[in-house]
Amino acid sequence: MTKETIEQTDIITLTNANGTQVKVSALGATVMSFLFKDKDGILRDVVLGYDAPSGYLEHKAGYFGATVGRNANRIANAKCTISGAAYELEANSDQNNLHSGTNGVSHKLWEVEKLDEAANSVTLKFFSAHLEQGFPGNMTMHVTFTLTEDDSLKIAYEAVSDQDTIANFTNHSYFNLAGHNSGCIGKQKLKIYSKEITPLTAALVPSGEIRQVAGTPMDFTEFKEIGRDIDKDYDQLNIAGGYDHNYVLDNNGRLALMAEAVCEETGIHLHAYTDCPGVQFYTGNFISPHTGKDGAAYDKRHAFCLESNYCPNAINIPEFQSPLLKAGETYHSETVYRLSL
Ligand code: BGC
Repeated sequence: MTKETIEQTDIITLTNANGTQVKVSALGATVMSFLFKDKDGILRDVVLGYDAPSGYLEHKAGYFGATVGRNANRIANAKCTISGAAYELEANSDQNNLHSGTNGVSHKLWEVEKLDEAANSVTLKFFSAHLEQGFPGNMTMHVTFTLTEDDSLKIAYEAVSDQDTIANFTNHSYFNLAGHNSGCIGKQKLKIYSKEITPLTAALVPSGEIRQVAGTPMDFTEFKEIGRDIDKDYDQLNIAGGYDHNYVLDNNGRLALMAEAVCEETGIHLHAYTDCPGVQFYTGNFISPHTGKDGAAYDKRHAFCLESNYCPNAINIPEFQSPLLKAGETYHSETVYRLSL
């Protein structure tokens, strides 16, 4: 484990005996890189990102690798009611609040609270004051990143607030299993452990409906190339310009597989686990052409995200599992991204 400081930001590198390596930045509690040896022994960096913290500040709207909170994804019309009181949030994505607005934790400097050599982990801490993002309650949050010997990156969240509030964290890593600089992910295969999505309205928020994926281009119940159906004429794909949808998970709050992805060219296989009720599968439809780390040319659909979370806008939809965190109670959630050949 090493710690360095780049642009006044602590950056921790976790390495295991296989040579697998994860770099975590204190700016946004962000995964900057995830290096793994492919079938030919070549180290591939399977997540998109930037060389230095300033890159993340220049390209805030993508949330590359970041921890997102207190609330991941959209809240319709940037309004919600929590324990009887109404809150107005920042509308930063048309009329909606996205990823807790521009004052979310994704671009804040977190404190490195603990480096644990034995566990190969780093714990970051952030304090978010009452109404800082429009949400009630002073909240202390922790995120622990652990790299295990079986090449899993475990991300564990904890949060506590002194008033009832929302707690709904995710990690926004953009995966490309051929390597971050290898272009479109259309040929990579994906399986999602879900038979249902929460379809979007034209405003990109769930309508409250639950829709079966069987017989539609949204169906990933068996491995399928991500690009196979992505341009089909289907209401949900037309609205989002590709996949940008929440799949409903059935894990009863226990850590379970949410998705698997595989790239035949590199042989790299991703197993993704969560204890959350949903996963946002996003194909980078809104990535605009720009330069990423190592001079890589990034563009639309050069990566996919598997963002574990409560269903988007769940705070306003009584039928969805609620992201409400009661005052004094502790929110826990875990996501694991494991790489193998
Ligand atoms: C959202 C996308 C958004 C992206 C980057 C994803 O979680 O679902 O609509 O463009 O984050 O902000």
